[in-house]
Amino acid sequence: MSDGKATARAFPNIALIKYWGNRDHTLRLPASSSLSMNMDGLHTTTTVAFDTSQSDDAVVLDGVEQSGAAKDRVVRLIDRVRSMAGIDARAQVESRNNFPAGAGLASSASGFAALAVASAAAAGLHLDEASLSRLARLGSGSAARSVPGGYVEWQAGVDDASSFAFSIAPPEHWDLRDAIAIVDATHKSVGSTQGHALADTSPLHAARVATIPDRLRRVKEALLARDFVTMAPLVEADALAMHAVMMTSEPPLLYWQPATMTIMHAVRTWREEGMPVCFTIDAGANVHCLCEARVADEVRQRLMRIDGVQEVLLVGPGGAAHVIT
Ligand code: PMV
Repeated sequence: MSDGKATARAFPNIALIKYWGNRDHTLRLPASSSLSMNMDGLHTTTTVAFDTSQSDDAVVLDGVEQSGAAKDRVVRLIDRVRSMAGIDARAQVESRNNFPAGAGLASSASGFAALAVASAAAAGLHLDEASLSRLARLGSGSAARSVPGGYVEWQAGVDDASSFAFSIAPPEHWDLRDAIAIVDATHKSVGSTQGHALADTSPLHAARVATIPDRLRRVKEALLARDFVTMAPLVEADALAMHAVMMTSEPPLLYWQPATMTIMHAVRTWREEGMPVCFTIDAGANVHCLCEARVADEVRQRLMRIDGVQEVLLVGPGGAAHVIT
């Protein structure tokens, strides 16, 4: 946009093979590759306006002006855009989530993907998808995966140039649903930026990293073949391996609540009974129950009946981050 202003929208994503731990914390180069599905229905909309009359950057998230570390994280990404575009105007950033900030859902993936796309467009840069993914990665690793659409792989790479995400299948490829059981709506006590830095302190981290290439290949093959039966236990195994790393880091991170465990057992029983459903869990207590669309309403109703489940959000595969205006 030549007028120095652009608005973009991006969707969060849920990882089937998780990202946990970095080989370079500053550049957010991950310890291993990961795989995810964008989530339709939930989104962040961000407007960036460069203004030469402004003396400082201003960042407003869900109506609240940011300062300190939260603002610095946004400014760092904008600084990269300014240096790429050869401009020095300060920016006004306004960002809104259509999902409640207090629902315990990560908004950093959709937030930094929308910021990357909006700020590049506002600065007049015409970046390809890989470059936008690399830019989003600077704000939040998982944001790299919210730039491309549908089902997405983030190749770990070895440096800034080679660490980006790309789509392996469009949203229409497979009509999966994520029934998100909210069991804890509060903000997580240890955020993922701090968490990634602890991964190396777990004796299990290296073991998990070593198993990821094979597991990722198998999940990808199953996903491309729409083979839920093969994919389900692999997705659960990777989430459990990541939480084992979290629980054995120093200090240890224990994100689960009793209801988290109840849901995990229930999901396994339902699958044994023939239902195509499996669980995965991010850095929090909420449980993402991935299932085929035909059983999604039944999964949602069953989850609602479990003690400690406050709400169940149902989302499908989402598209790529894109400029709106
Ligand atoms: O992008 P971050 O720093 O918020 O890390 C995301 C970490 C997990 O959600 C736990 C796993 C993942 O791959 O999304």
